[in-house]
Amino acid sequence: DKKNFKHYMLKEIYDQPDIAKYWLEKYLIKDLKTDQFQINYSFDTDFLNSIERIDIVACGTSKHSAMVGKFLLEQFSGIPTNVFFASEFRYSPPPLLCNTLTIGVTQSGETADTIAAISMEIKRRSSIGDRSFKPNLIAITNRVESSIGRQIPNIIDISAGIEIGVAATKTFFAQLLSFYGLAIKFAQIKGSQSNENINQLVLELTKLPGLVEELLEKHNESSEKLAHDFFNIKDVIFLGRGINYPIALEGALKLKEISYINAAGYPAGEMKHGPIALLDKKVPVISIATPGQVFDKVISNAQEAKARDAYLIGVAPQCNGTEIFDYLMTIPSTNEWISPLLAIVPLQLLSYHIASHRGLDVDQPRNLAKSVTVE
Ligand code: M6R
Repeated sequence: DKKNFKHYMLKEIYDQPDIAKYWLEKYLIKDLKTDQFQINYSFDTDFLNSIERIDIVACGTSKHSAMVGKFLLEQFSGIPTNVFFASEFRYSPPPLLCNTLTIGVTQSGETADTIAAISMEIKRRSSIGDRSFKPNLIAITNRVESSIGRQIPNIIDISAGIEIGVAATKTFFAQLLSFYGLAIKFAQIKGSQSNENINQLVLELTKLPGLVEELLEKHNESSEKLAHDFFNIKDVIFLGRGINYPIALEGALKLKEISYINAAGYPAGEMKHGPIALLDKKVPVISIATPGQVFDKVISNAQEAKARDAYLIGVAPQCNGTEIFDYLMTIPSTNEWISPLLAIVPLQLLSYHIASHRGLDVDQPRNLAKSVTVE
């Protein structure tokens, strides 16, 4: 049921604080003896400990969540990780390496390319006698009873509830949370982070329901106003770096899918290697500038865009440096690790309101299906 929302997509964007709350209740447990937090995933410790590298296969929005996952698994948990388009992996997989975990990410559990990529991987690994090459698999899905659920017994159930809008919003948010859980679990097992760092990240995650709620309150009306000025725009560029580069890609995908506006996401440092030629005052640039190691770099990339007359929109906290933006979609200044979970919210709202202003069928965009079960 849509409750009082005009579209399912908007309702699903508004479901996100509850999803965070539910995730924290379901997956975060405090060990009262040691005062340490544990992630309630029922995977065998020896199994996780044997993993030396990770390959993730996914499509669309699920792939963007996997890219944030890669950042976390490498930078927080210290495990080399690669992310593949499932459609590419199935025909040109990387050479086999031992002790590899393959993760399939699919909210529907039915995406043909992802299912086929996993089947192919199971087959080619099973055909090798050496045990260290055996398939090790985890599925991250919203549908435990699905094709991927039947393929892979080790499941992280993202528990986002059914998503009706074709454009994935709340399931993206829940997939991100699943990767935070996995990164924490691996960091504990591999000893790649101190307890203090792990507790700090957990503490930040526990603030999410309130933070996301505030973002929704703050940005629903303002992004509707911004949409009013921008609904006729032809091209938009999204920039991000590091952990927020995938958020630039996801922001662009949301806008393309439901408003049919040409949008592209780039790692901000790549702008000068080509895309900058696209810029003029008719092309707004949306830049995700969250405090952290690359903040100054992102700001100077935004400056380069401004010098080409682009209208600059920042998804950033109000702080030194962000006065450069012509328009600021303010997000709270938090620990960099959790910034993707916040930065995505105003971008979802902006795409929604632009599509809605254009009078489009937000929940059922043309040419798209909720799950793509053909190759
Ligand atoms: O069900 P899946 O997560 O496997 O779906 C993958 C993509 O088809 C999906 O994310 C698609 O890109 C959405 N329409 C994104 O909003």
